[in-house]
Amino acid sequence: MERTFIMIKPDGVQRGLIGDIISRFETKGFSLVGMKFMSVSRELAEKHYGVHKERPFFGSLVDFITSSPVVAMVWEGDSVVTSARTLIGATNPITSAPGTIRGDYGVTIGRNIIHGSDAIETAQSEIALWFSEEELATWESCAKSWLY
Ligand code: PPS
Repeated sequence: MERTFIMIKPDGVQRGLIGDIISRFETKGFSLVGMKFMSVSRELAEKHYGVHKERPFFGSLVDFITSSPVVAMVWEGDSVVTSARTLIGATNPITSAPGTIRGDYGVTIGRNIIHGSDAIETAQSEIALWFSEEELATWESCAKSWLY
């Protein structure tokens, strides 16, 4: 089973969207295997977004992610990396399709509510960065036989 890293960013938390976002992943059919509500250190934010450190928005993105708590999660399911990106919508909320999380709730790229890993390898490294093995639950959802 594939896993992906999902983070509800400070704006998603501040706007009271945690429940709706979790509900979208649950009702799609994915299984939650790890979740924590946390403040993000600059060190963690800089590591997470390290690949973008030369981009002009890097400093403001790190400031934003460390400004207020986030919800860090790991979700599991068939092709969950790609499917989660579809549920989330395009990076710029102006062009995200209606029905996606960013398309329904976002307006500006600097406040786009949620992060999702962009590839299987990225998901593996982000999960390892944000969670220890003990923080992840291995369990079998009874609903899986109705999904797959
Ligand atoms: S993506 O989704 O990685 O393909 O998009 P990309 O354009 O490469 O953006 C990488 C992350 O940077 C965020 N981003 C920005 N933040 C603030 N201001 C500006 N202008 C900006 N442009 C891009 C974008 O949301 C990606 O972060 P995550 O957390 O994955 O959404």
